Amino acid sequence: MNKAWWKESVIYQIYPRSFCDSNGDGIGDLNGIRSKLDYLQELGINVIWLSPIYKSPNDDMGYDISDYQDIMDDFGNMDDFDALLKEAHEHQIKIVMDLVVNHTSDEHKWFIESRQSKDNPKRDYYIWREGKDGKEPNNWGSCFSGSAWEWDENTQMYYLHCFSKKQPDLNWDNPKVRDEVFNMMTWWCDKGIDGFRMDVISMISKVPGLPDGKVYEGALYGDLSNTTNGPKVHEYLQEMRDRVLSKYDLITVGECAGVTIEEAQKYAGLDNKELNMVFQFEHTSLDHDENGKWTTKRMYLPDLKKNLSKWQVELENKAWNSLYWDNHDQPRIVSRLGDDSPLSAKCIATVLHMMQGTPYIYQGEELGMTNYPFTSIDECRDIESINAFKELINAGKLTKEQMIAGIAAKGRDNARTPMQWDDSDNAGFTAGTPWINVNPNYKTINAKAELEDENSVFNYYKKLISLRRKSEWSDIIVYGTYRLLDEDDESVFAYTRQLDEKKLIVICNMTGKEVDYTIPEDVNGVKNTVISNCDSVELKQQMKLPAWFAGVYEI
Ligand code: NOJ
Repeated sequence: MNKAWWKESVIYQIYPRSFCDSNGDGIGDLNGIRSKLDYLQELGINVIWLSPIYKSPNDDMGYDISDYQDIMDDFGNMDDFDALLKEAHEHQIKIVMDLVVNHTSDEHKWFIESRQSKDNPKRDYYIWREGKDGKEPNNWGSCFSGSAWEWDENTQMYYLHCFSKKQPDLNWDNPKVRDEVFNMMTWWCDKGIDGFRMDVISMISKVPGLPDGKVYEGALYGDLSNTTNGPKVHEYLQEMRDRVLSKYDLITVGECAGVTIEEAQKYAGLDNKELNMVFQFEHTSLDHDENGKWTTKRMYLPDLKKNLSKWQVELENKAWNSLYWDNHDQPRIVSRLGDDSPLSAKCIATVLHMMQGTPYIYQGEELGMTNYPFTSIDECRDIESINAFKELINAGKLTKEQMIAGIAAKGRDNARTPMQWDDSDNAGFTAGTPWINVNPNYKTINAKAELEDENSVFNYYKKLISLRRKSEWSDIIVYGTYRLLDEDDESVFAYTRQLDEKKLIVICNMTGKEVDYTIPEDVNGVKNTVISNCDSVELKQQMKLPAWFAGVYEI
């Protein structure tokens, strides 16, 4: 068993724009985060992942960076950051920065220079191509609708942007680009930050020749498979490890769109040549359909169980999992898998937090914050939803009503509504006008009420975190072997964890109905209840599990 602090951590993701506004401009900021460190310490997490806080014109809410070594005006300045880092450390909380280096903003000085002329020294920092037959160089579609290529009038060439046209892709095959990125990372490490979450890092190496992508039935463009897990991605990450990461004691997680188990074993292998762990996305697309995420379709439980279990089993002793339901790109899990109730939030949390891997909690998840009831595109701020709304309706793929229903079910803004601190105006998030609407349910779902209620979702998360971090079961929860039970059961998510002589069983009824369940393990002589969201239920071979029941026992 290879122990490591980052395997034993619980990470809390902050989306600064929506976390806490200290100056009344309607936008969260660094001083707002500072004011909530006590809250985070109370919850028990030991690492914060900060979504981007760098200078940015905010075309994609900070994922379009115009200066990697400066702070976004809306969020404060470098002194505020230094104070946040210092105070977080005083609270025994580490800070992981978002590293967005597949692309920059088109307002970054490198791109401003690059687009000036074909012989500019920075020209080759980005991916420029001539058109083909008077059209784009290939059929790739951008993740945010439309072609992945933008015509540049000045130099009469196209540049690649896998995301918005204000996010040109960097050319990692250029060693100068890698020098720039590694120097910038070193600068942050020397400041004392504790790690990096690497945005779409699986996309930094493109297949040479940039061949067309596959056009799936009904799709408007070719896919981006020739940009993911490309031929040199592992070489570049190993170079990054040699030149930067190996010199510090960091936590590193790669956001790896399109990652397979086989690839993950390379990115996050226990030999530690590249990253500590990856975010994989397979389970987040189980409720998509032929139009992608824009659907109210729900996940089929056996698919979810089999998928997560595959990652549990196949990374064991080979690589390390990151465990997440929510982040700033996903809808709220209590709405997605549950029924918006606190009980379902606790049940769904139990499933994840008892698995092997490092868990991530996205702000508000610990309160059971829900999706927002979107009824109009005017309520949206997210470029992905807004562009897809236009494109799919224009192409006649979906009606306006279907699109709004899809956005309400899966859109990214569900995660981005302001953090619900209390029941005062704007949920205590801001004294001004919030940049995006507050969820109207803040009067009942808010941190203040939940801190005072020992049965709240907050206090349940607190217990889950403390079980993992500081209890007699910590080792088995972090390192124990996982085994799924009853993979075809459509209602119950049950599994065991085992470490030496110790064994835990996790039983969760993932439905809003009472179900009968026969435990396929010997549960005679049960020693302990580790946690449950319904203490009155007793463990026995034949059980009646109440709606959204969750129980973890030592057997
Ligand atoms: C993934 C990020 O999580 C998402 O928010 C962003 O839009 C894209 N990468 C582009 O940076």
